[in-house]
Amino acid sequence: MEVIITKDYDEMSKEAAKIIREQIVSKPNSVLGLATGGTPIGTYKELVRMHKEEGLDFCKVVTFNLDEYIGLPPSHDQSYYYFMWENLFKHVNINPENVHVPAGIIADFEAYCNWYEEEIKKAGGIDLQLLGIGGDGHIAFNEPGSSLTSRTRIVTLFEQTRKDNARFFKSIDEVPYFAITMGVGTIMEAKKILLIANGKKKAKVVAEFIEGPITSMITASVLQLHPNCTVVLDEEAASELKYAKEYRWMYENKNRIKDFQFK
Ligand code: F6R
Repeated sequence: MEVIITKDYDEMSKEAAKIIREQIVSKPNSVLGLATGGTPIGTYKELVRMHKEEGLDFCKVVTFNLDEYIGLPPSHDQSYYYFMWENLFKHVNINPENVHVPAGIIADFEAYCNWYEEEIKKAGGIDLQLLGIGGDGHIAFNEPGSSLTSRTRIVTLFEQTRKDNARFFKSIDEVPYFAITMGVGTIMEAKKILLIANGKKKAKVVAEFIEGPITSMITASVLQLHPNCTVVLDEEAASELKYAKEYRWMYENKNRIKDFQFK
């Protein structure tokens, strides 16, 4: 796992956007897995700027979102579909047919979840998966106790997650109880993972998932097993890491290998 510690939210967002830009430039028809929530808003803003000012081209990019609240129609201003269009899609030249956000209103849950998994496979799998992390260590909506091999399915949200997300709704009563989410196993199949986290509130769980044991109680901890995972943090989120100094040192020195010569 590569850990990159940046100064603040702004720098974290720019660093994450740079990694996504590299992915799109190196493979214009990249399949991106995307997250919602407060953390990626700055990253999406920076990607929009790169599109407008530097011509970053989304015309062949394909996207799959991690999750959606059950019961919210796409037109609901707290649906993840709405979030994605407001924060990214409507500002770039993405082909709407290439956008996949799981539906929140579904007749047959099981068939729909299987279909979503199949669509990811048909697209060739996810090249780069962007993730945030919940206060309880969840990735997507894989709450503590989720199987580390789980697939796309319907889950019940923890009460704490509903409380955390109530800040986006008029009141907690409006926060849905259920969500459709990619599973931990689905996420682990992405070729590259990029997890971002900021703020003091995430410091404890960030230290636990990077430096603690792998456990389904903190589903993000399974990322320790992923062969190509980058974590971009701001200083506050990195403040409880035991090896912060070493991560910085490794990051600062990683390009030296390019000049390395055998004598
Ligand atoms: C959202 C998602 C969630 C969030 C997590 C952190 O699509 O999958 O796992 O990434 O709850 O949310 P924020 O960024 O609001 O702290």
